[in-house]
Amino acid sequence: MKTITWFGFVLGALSAAGEVIWTKPGQTAIFKCQAESYGTLEWLHHGTERIIRVDGRTGQQNKAQSDIVKRSAASETTLTVSSVKEADAGRFTCKVDRRVQEYTLLVVSVPSGVLQVGSTAKLQVKGKSSSTSVQWKGPDGHLTDSETIQLNPVALSHNGTWECLFTLDKVTHKKSLEIKVEVPAPETAAPLPSQKSKDCHNCVTNPQPKETPLLQELSWWVWVALGVGCLVVILLIVFVIVLCVRIRRRKRKYQRRQNGQQPLKPRQFCQCNRPTAAAKPQQGRRREKPLALPRQPLLME
Ligand SMILES: *[C@@H]1O[C@H](CO)[C@@H](O)[C@H](O)[C@H]1NC(C)=O
Repeated sequence: MKTITWFGFVLGALSAAGEVIWTKPGQTAIFKCQAESYGTLEWLHHGTERIIRVDGRTGQQNKAQSDIVKRSAASETTLTVSSVKEADAGRFTCKVDRRVQEYTLLVVSVPSGVLQVGSTAKLQVKGKSSSTSVQWKGPDGHLTDSETIQLNPVALSHNGTWECLFTLDKVTHKKSLEIKVEVPAPETAAPLPSQKSKDCHNCVTNPQPKETPLLQELSWWVWVALGVGCLVVILLIVFVIVLCVRIRRRKRKYQRRQNGQQPLKPRQFCQCNRPTAAAKPQQGRRREKPLALPRQPLLME
């Protein structure tokens, strides 16, 4: 019996070494306590702050009053903390009767999306205690003994896989994180500041951002003005053509009046010759016949 209880103590000590749970802000952390049956099960934060106490016989839960408690739920031997915050990071404890199981909640904040070269970014892990250590390993393999890495400025060498190393009781836990970096698209106004920097040093930073939107606005208005201008020109041309046609008509009328009734006679002749009632159907028939004739030999062949 003694060996069995000793074995139990060793197992308890191993579990006391602690489980490491990696999360990101906003995610849900799940803590699983190993217990078949128990009199009381208690969840503690930072060693002493009680979150929930569960009575094993009645299943009744006693909840404390704090921010993390509002986001916590206990089900059987599992504690769920939703919408994880950086302040939640650290030690969690499950007390089952007299046994204790320890957990370390690590909250890793890493920029999401693609970082631009030259911008700034921060990699951070929360949850380190005095007895643990944290390191960041860059894509180049360089190790930094810090919870926080400031990328200022972000460089292309920061692109790739970063590793967060958390050492607890001589055991190192790793979390790989992908950081994406890209070179920002070159701007058209790039050569302008170099020209200005020669003229005045103090004015360099201020006019830069002002000029590009102005240029964009200008080009916008230039296009609108061009469109309106083209419309006006087209309308003017149409107006001039209409005017010319009217002037010509008036000139012809004026000339006709001056010439008297002479130009009317040839017109009358033309009108009388063309539209005779008998001529039209004859023309139609004549056209049909020559069309029909060449088709027959073509079909025969
Ligand atoms: C960044 O790293 C990823 C792999 O992690 C690679 O596919 C991508 O091409 C890299 N981007 C640049 C700009 O080097």
